[in-house]
Amino acid sequence: MKIHIIGAGPGDPDLVTVKGLKLIEQADVVMYTDSLVNTELINKAKQGAEIIKTAGMHLEEMVDMMINRVKAGKKVVRVHTGDSAVFGAIMEQIALLKEAGIDVEIVPGVSSVFASAAVAGAELTIPDLTQTVILTRAEGRTPVPEREKLKDLAKHHCTIALFLSATLTKKIVKEFLAADWHEETPVVVVYKATWPDEKVVRTTIGKLDEAMRVNGIRKQAMILAGWALDPSIHEKEYRSKLYDKEFTHSFRKGVKA
Ligand SMILES: C[S@@+](CC[C@H](N)C(=O)[O-])C[C@H]1O[C@@H](n2cnc3c(N)ncnc32)[C@H](O)[C@@H]1O
Repeated sequence: MKIHIIGAGPGDPDLVTVKGLKLIEQADVVMYTDSLVNTELINKAKQGAEIIKTAGMHLEEMVDMMINRVKAGKKVVRVHTGDSAVFGAIMEQIALLKEAGIDVEIVPGVSSVFASAAVAGAELTIPDLTQTVILTRAEGRTPVPEREKLKDLAKHHCTIALFLSATLTKKIVKEFLAADWHEETPVVVVYKATWPDEKVVRTTIGKLDEAMRVNGIRKQAMILAGWALDPSIHEKEYRSKLYDKEFTHSFRKGVKA
């Protein structure tokens, strides 16, 4: 007995994996987070498949539905937005499914962080500038662990991707400034990356809060911050070792002068 958890990708139904799509097409039951997953993707389910929206359900209610249907011999897929490994709340589902003797196979998806970087035309790890990306969220009603406060994470001055934080920009700015970020540090906010009503807002740490207000963005936004997001980064002299002609690796011998 097995359930597949599938990453739907950020919105564009073409951004699901081939494997994820095949599983959706073959499923008898498709359960999905209707607030975030594109119904165009869910409509690829076969005729007669049972489609269940889960946004209004609590955990036990949802997992009971999965268990009953799998036990009745049905192919059940659970479709999550982006990639389920990031803020997907899947572990609590997996725990109950395992308890019921049901295996879970996870099919990865394109997370909104990578879709947003793509939309912004950005590389998040620029050689000699930053080689680290922190995926996190600002602390709001839901706390973050003591050792993961934004002002402490921001001390690394690397690229920071903030999920679930669109209404917390005043606080974000304060924490970044407390970690000695410059007001001019570039920020890209992507609202609903890859959806038809996507919006890309280029701003800076100093102007972030105002930019969110002016653009009316209060949810479904990815905030990418750091010098890697500098819109003129391509004019600068950052080069990777990977394509450096002097640098050899197992797939390429160095070019002799
Ligand atoms: C519950 S989390 C789920 C994240 C998801 N697992 C992922 O990998 O993208 C929801 C948050 O992800 C971000 N998000 C999800 N889809 C997005 C999109 N299409 N564009 C921008 N941000 C998105 C927003 O920050 C939103 O508040």
